[in-house]
Amino acid sequence: MLVNVKKLNVQQFIAQQITTEMVKPYSFTAQAPSNIALVKYWGKYANQIPANPSISFTLTNCHTDTSITFEPKKQKKPQLEVYFEGKQKESFKPKILTFIARIIKYCTYLNHFDIHIDTKNSFPHSSGIASSASGMAAISHCIMQLEKSFYPEMPLSYFNQKSSFLARLGSGSASRSVAGEVVVWGKHEQVNASSDLYGVSIPFQLHKNFKNYQDTILLVDKGEKVVSSTVGHKLMNNHPYAKARFEQAHQNLGAMLDILKNGNLTEFIQLVESEALTLHAMMMTSVPYFILMKPKTLEIIQEIWRFRAKTGLHLCFTLDAGANVHLLYPNDEKELINHFIKEKLAQYCQNNQYICDELGTGTRTK
Ligand code: PMV
Repeated sequence: MLVNVKKLNVQQFIAQQITTEMVKPYSFTAQAPSNIALVKYWGKYANQIPANPSISFTLTNCHTDTSITFEPKKQKKPQLEVYFEGKQKESFKPKILTFIARIIKYCTYLNHFDIHIDTKNSFPHSSGIASSASGMAAISHCIMQLEKSFYPEMPLSYFNQKSSFLARLGSGSASRSVAGEVVVWGKHEQVNASSDLYGVSIPFQLHKNFKNYQDTILLVDKGEKVVSSTVGHKLMNNHPYAKARFEQAHQNLGAMLDILKNGNLTEFIQLVESEALTLHAMMMTSVPYFILMKPKTLEIIQEIWRFRAKTGLHLCFTLDAGANVHLLYPNDEKELINHFIKEKLAQYCQNNQYICDELGTGTRTK
């Protein structure tokens, strides 16, 4: 088991008790985007504390829309109802109940309410795109709107910090979906405000080369993953290369911060692709080992490398814990690259399906 020796101040996130007058019906909505990591989080300590810091682009079009109604509870125990795309969804409940159990000590006011959640994703169901990041960020945003209605003087900075803190307890990477456009989660020496407890936006102006940076997601495999990310993270415990990997992630994050400041796209490509392959190398060298890439993932990578050598355009790939490929490229090279995607890469996707997305600003009230 990875042992975390750092002391973290979680007291600041414990909400005060509410009064009985505050227990009445409330209703809130939120739209939260997905995000794609440039330097990857893989491996964690207890309570969703990351083994290394990570950095991601917040997306726009891949998002979850959630409305939550909080009603004064009718029975001794608060009840939870979950609807997905208008239909009751029992299978979502265990994950949300685990989430509520993790956050209840920070949000004891939830003990007074029955919770009704209505949620939908903008991306196709079971497309292999993780909906946990956007889903948990959206729920957390609604819960924080409830908390803010008890304490209206709550500063926006606290609202966002605690939203990310709660989202993290649902799914680590969800902590990076609250803010935009580039978010660091995990303590890093070059970002003063960074924390293992929540994500923060980078503290400098993103270079103009990254303005509206594009992310096209090639849907290579929509099936259920053979190994979940929960299991994958656990396999970093006792992983033979874990220590070196965690150190490397620190270094890579430092290098990435410089790149995002100076706009060097060649270095960006090298670092992003190396991070993606390192993530999958960790999977392939876990005990037991596993592979989440598919033959088509590798064929796409070869196509990208050939295209880049031929055109000199700045198209690169990154991977999540799955077979789908995220294509990252500058907005001003969009036309030629989109043509290449349509003519060449779409054929590797299930039913030729891919999703066009770009850099975004984070979770908002809808
Ligand atoms: O948030 P989780 O527990 O689903 O882990 C996500 C891990 C990766 O997507 C592989 C990397 C990352 O930093 O998002």
